[in-house]
Amino acid sequence: MSRILEAKKTKGDQEDFSIRPQKLNEYIGQDFLRNNLTIYIGAAKKRNEVLDHVLLYGPPGLGKTTLANIIANEMGVSFKSVNGPSIEKIGDLASILATLKPGDVLFIDEIHRLPLFIEESLYSAMEDFKFSIVINRETNPKSITLDLPPFTLVGATTKSGSLSAPLRSRFGIIEKIDFYTLEDLAKIVIRIGKVLSISIEEKAALQIAKRSRGTPRIAIRIFKRVRDYANYKNIDSIYENDCLEALKLLKIDELGLDEVDRLYITTLIKRFNGGPVGLETLANSIGEEAINLEDVYEPYLLQLGFIDRTPKGRAARRAAYFHYKIMKKN
Ligand code: ADE
Repeated sequence: MSRILEAKKTKGDQEDFSIRPQKLNEYIGQDFLRNNLTIYIGAAKKRNEVLDHVLLYGPPGLGKTTLANIIANEMGVSFKSVNGPSIEKIGDLASILATLKPGDVLFIDEIHRLPLFIEESLYSAMEDFKFSIVINRETNPKSITLDLPPFTLVGATTKSGSLSAPLRSRFGIIEKIDFYTLEDLAKIVIRIGKVLSISIEEKAALQIAKRSRGTPRIAIRIFKRVRDYANYKNIDSIYENDCLEALKLLKIDELGLDEVDRLYITTLIKRFNGGPVGLETLANSIGEEAINLEDVYEPYLLQLGFIDRTPKGRAARRAAYFHYKIMKKN
C-alpha cells in the first residue's frame, strides 16, 4: 500500500536538510509560534543568556525538528539531535551531554518515549546543569556529578499528554504546532520548487496542498513525485493540469485521504455500524497497527470531523458517511 501520506519520517526526509528553512524569516506558517519564538530568542540574545528549554508538541511532520534547528541557528550555537527511544542507558545520555558547549541546543525527538529512569536523570541536568551518574554499580557503587555548560533542551512530542508532569514543568517555553493552512502549504511547495530548480504555479501548488493533510512533510513528498512526473515528461514549469495528471498516479483523493483512511472509515461504518468500537479491534480488522492509526491517521480524521474518539471507542461522524457516499442506517 502506498505510504506517501504517512507523516512518519523516512530516511529521505531526514536527509533533506538542504531544503529546510534555516532561519525564522524563511519559515512559513505557524505565525503565532514564530512570533513568540522571535521574541524569546531575541530577548535571550540581548541578555546574553541561554534560551530557556523549549517543548514543541503536535502531530508528526509539522516541522518540530526544523524549528529546533532554526532555534540553534538563530542563537548561533551548535545543534545536537537524538531520538528519545534510542537512549537506552544513562551512559548514552552522558556521552551526548558531555559534547555540549555553552548555549548549545540539544534536541530530543519523541521525548515522551524516553525510559523513565533516563527522564528522571534529565531533571537536574535541565534545572541546575548537573548530571549525576552511578559508576561501578555492581562492585563499588559511586555517584559522580558532571557539571554541564548551560544549554537549551528542545523536546518534541506528538503526545504532550504522555509527558510526565515533572518533565513538562521543567520547560520554560511550551508551544503547540498546528496543521498548516492550504495557503501556507502552497507557499512551502513553491519555496521548495525554487530550491529544487523547478517552477510550480500557485494553482498547482494548491492542488498539492489540498492533498497534504495540513502537513509540510507530506506536501514535500507529494511534490517530489509530481516533480518526477514533470522531469519525465520534460515539463519545466508545472501547471495545474500537469499536476492533476501526476496526482492521479498517487491514488490520493482531493481531501488528501489514502487507502488506509478509506479502509478505516468504511470498515468503521460497514463492519461496526459506525462505532463506537475499540481502536485495537478496528486496527486488527484493517491490518494496521493501532499506534500508527492513532498517531498518523486519526489526527487528520479528527480535524476533518470524520471521527470521534469516545470513551467507548471510535465512532464515525456524518461528514465521513457523506465523503464516502455511504447511507447512514436508521
Ligand atoms: N519546509 C518545510 N516546512 C517548512 C516551513 N514551515 N517553512 C518553509 N519551508 C518549509
